[in-house]
Amino acid sequence: MRQTPASAVLALLVNTSAHAQELQHVLADKADRFPRLNFTSPAPLIFHSTFGLLQQWPNTFFQNGHTIAACTLEKNTNLYHARGDSSFPPSPEWFGLDAEMSYFIAGAMPDSHLLTYRTTKDVKCLYFDGTSASLMDDGSMDAQMLLLHNNSANVPDRPAFGPPPRHDNGGRHFCGHDDRDANCTHWNPLQAEYDRASGLCDFIAEKKLGGPGWGYEGVVRMNAAFELIWCNFSSPSARLVSWLNVSAPLLDGVESDRRPWEAEMLEDGNAEPGPPTAPPRRGAPSGGGGTRWPGRDHPFQAYSVYEWFHAAAKRYGFVGGFPGRGEARISIDSGGLFTFYDPSLEHQASARAQLETELYNLTAAGYWPSPADPIERQSALAHLTRRRRAQRAVNVSAVDGLYMRAEVEDRMRAALGTASDGCSGVDWLLTIQEIVTSYGGDLYDLSNLLSENLSLADGEQLRSRLARSREVVHGRWIPFYEYPQYTDDRLETSFAPSARESQAALERCRTQYQPCDMDELSASEQTTYAAVAEVLGAICGTLLPVLLSIEQLWLANFNNASAPPPEATSPVYKELELTLSNNKRAVEELMAWLGWADQWTACTPGCDLGQVCYIPIWPVMGMGRGRGGPPGKGRGYGYPPRRPGGMNAMHDYLSEPTCVDAEHYPPS
Ligand SMILES: *[C@@H]1O[C@H](CO)[C@@H](O)[C@H](O)[C@H]1NC(C)=O
Ligand SMILES: *[C@@H]1O[C@H](CO)[C@@H](O)[C@H](O)[C@H]1NC(C)=O
Ligand SMILES: *[C@@H]1O[C@H](CO)[C@@H](O)[C@H](O)[C@H]1NC(C)=O
Ligand SMILES: *[C@@H]1O[C@H](CO)[C@@H](O)[C@H](O)[C@H]1NC(C)=O
Ligand SMILES: *[C@@H]1O[C@H](CO)[C@@H](O)[C@H](O)[C@H]1NC(C)=O
Ligand SMILES: *[C@@H]1O[C@H](CO)[C@@H](O)[C@H](O)[C@H]1NC(C)=O
Ligand SMILES: *[C@@H]1O[C@H](CO)[C@@H](O)[C@H](O)[C@H]1NC(C)=O
Ligand SMILES: *[C@@H]1O[C@H](CO)[C@@H](O)[C@H](O)[C@H]1NC(C)=O
Ligand SMILES: *[C@@H]1O[C@H](CO)[C@@H](O)[C@H](O)[C@H]1NC(C)=O
Repeated sequence: MRQTPASAVLALLVNTSAHAQELQHVLADKADRFPRLNFTSPAPLIFHSTFGLLQQWPNTFFQNGHTIAACTLEKNTNLYHARGDSSFPPSPEWFGLDAEMSYFIAGAMPDSHLLTYRTTKDVKCLYFDGTSASLMDDGSMDAQMLLLHNNSANVPDRPAFGPPPRHDNGGRHFCGHDDRDANCTHWNPLQAEYDRASGLCDFIAEKKLGGPGWGYEGVVRMNAAFELIWCNFSSPSARLVSWLNVSAPLLDGVESDRRPWEAEMLEDGNAEPGPPTAPPRRGAPSGGGGTRWPGRDHPFQAYSVYEWFHAAAKRYGFVGGFPGRGEARISIDSGGLFTFYDPSLEHQASARAQLETELYNLTAAGYWPSPADPIERQSALAHLTRRRRAQRAVNVSAVDGLYMRAEVEDRMRAALGTASDGCSGVDWLLTIQEIVTSYGGDLYDLSNLLSENLSLADGEQLRSRLARSREVVHGRWIPFYEYPQYTDDRLETSFAPSARESQAALERCRTQYQPCDMDELSASEQTTYAAVAEVLGAICGTLLPVLLSIEQLWLANFNNASAPPPEATSPVYKELELTLSNNKRAVEELMAWLGWADQWTACTPGCDLGQVCYIPIWPVMGMGRGRGGPPGKGRGYGYPPRRPGGMNAMHDYLSEPTCVDAEHYPPS
């Protein structure tokens, strides 16, 4: 790396207009100290999706799950199942981990029952991340469908949930989502869900990975809060502890309203509505015998929507870079994760790289050339930071699919054994969450500190701004950096990235979570650790030149506390501004590459006690009293609202969330 002595830089800066070109060189030279970030690399994607597992907040921002994980449901956990009749649940059926969810879905019928089960032991489960229980055709369900159907070409093109199928040529109606059931007259909008549930339970049974009382017994997914597909209600692993009739007396003098899909069916005019009592074939999530979400004659209609949302918000997990508990009743076996970002899925990986290279103007090496215009740059950075939102596992070839099925099965089986079975015992979720805890907030602070408009400030203000940036960046190097012995005329060399102390610090930083015995890592752990190492390489590699350039500037010009700062006309300020600007650009690009958008989005100002920060979560996003009275057709309920801009307007809250309470829910 070429070095330019400080004196030469200063000489150049004395007459900037005459030496503009040389100055550019100096800057380019300094910008070169930052590592080039590879935006087609899967490392930041694997890292951040692993970070978010079992947390409501990150998985709402990044709805298209890419991870399949073995998990464990804790012993003595309560599970809730509501249904619209007094029969014993068929299998498979759904449990909510929160009674609020079950109650809203099936607790408001004329004969609603809430069954509470309690686990009698730790129970193995299979977890799909993202909003894997949101019945939308947006990519939320890609991973489940791939596990069921092997590869992208095999995944049937059927709605997850939506308007009923059209007439076929013979004028029959389909039932569910295929035509096996040629005689049925009522369409079950949840048929695809039941097919998925049985398919996943069959996978477990066929592969001999579990059954009633042993091994894997359920599938964990998330929409508003976490739910469980329970494969067999006769299993001794969950004991029925109460069975209550939870139907509440309805309000008098208010007309009830229709079930939402009936309204849709009538409106579309493409299906027989069926009598209002026609039950879906088996039931509904967390309920059976037909689902009727609380109508306007239900006394708890509005509040129960808020309660469901609130149950989800309690499982937000990390917010603003601060550690928070997500769904803590379930834990992940982090030694056996499977990710659709795994580079071994060759077609899937190359299709993503190809698509994003085009979408984000990346070079063949995966580098991002920033647009010159600052406004365009900011908007491009925002898109890059959120690029995981658009990513889908839809390019899984037959070969990719065989690898995936085999790996998922192997990893599930390994997780059935003792903790030492093939895995090192490192908790990778904890490792990754520690890294986000450590750097998430400081990167954000640093990008803001470096953004301040320097030309407005006087010498003392500049000194204090530089001091603040210095403090923040130094904080991240405490465990790694030893100051070199230096003299004032050798600052440039002593604080060069190539200096011995700098290189040693970089190495300590990059390897801060390297397991002592790398031979212990399973195949899954090797993929996870490769992502951790690349992410730490990018963070440490970017923060090192930031640290060194600030130290150098500080020690050369501002370190004498009893001396006044340099004169306002001093060329030092030009150098300062340029250094900070280079640092700022590097930190911004690092943040975009990392993509921790969920951690850099918050309710500002923060919420009062009793309030909660609102982001739109399917399906409760558009429901509630706040939107002009009771919910009716087209207000959420699993359908994009039909009003122009409906769903998009709600999605704006993902950029600017806002505080709500029961009285002001949803925000309007
Ligand atoms: C960037 O990452 C992609 C995907 O892993 C890889 O194919 C490519 O070679 C990388 N680019 C560089 C310059 O290493
Ligand atoms: C559930 O388990 C019981 C008892 O082992 C068994 O008889 C029944 O067939 C199982 N049901 C399903 C759907 O697997
Ligand atoms: C449950 O309670 C509701 C409301 O009180 C009542 O109409 C219904 O008959 C009850 N069901 C049973 C099985 O007792
Ligand atoms: C998926 O692949 C497995 C293993 O090759 C095969 O047994 C199964 O029938 C396939 N399933 C589908 C839906 O194609
Ligand atoms: C449909 O109904 C006809 C007449 O009742 C019957 O013969 C046929 O087996 C039924 N088909 C199916 C798939 O149930
Ligand atoms: C990836 O899948 C999408 C959706 O099916 C398709 O449009 C695209 O052409 C595929 N890309 C590649 C490289 O196969
Ligand atoms: C890609 O290039 C277009 C056209 O120059 C520009 O508008 C857009 O912001 C760029 N996108 C990114 C992510 O750099
Ligand atoms: C910084 O302040 C100067 C002087 O007021 C102004 O001309 C310039 O536009 C500001 N720059 C930014 C990025 O706000
Ligand atoms: C610090 O500044 C004071 C006041 O200008 C000066 O007297 C002193 O010599 C300086 N100390 C050093 C170590 O440069």
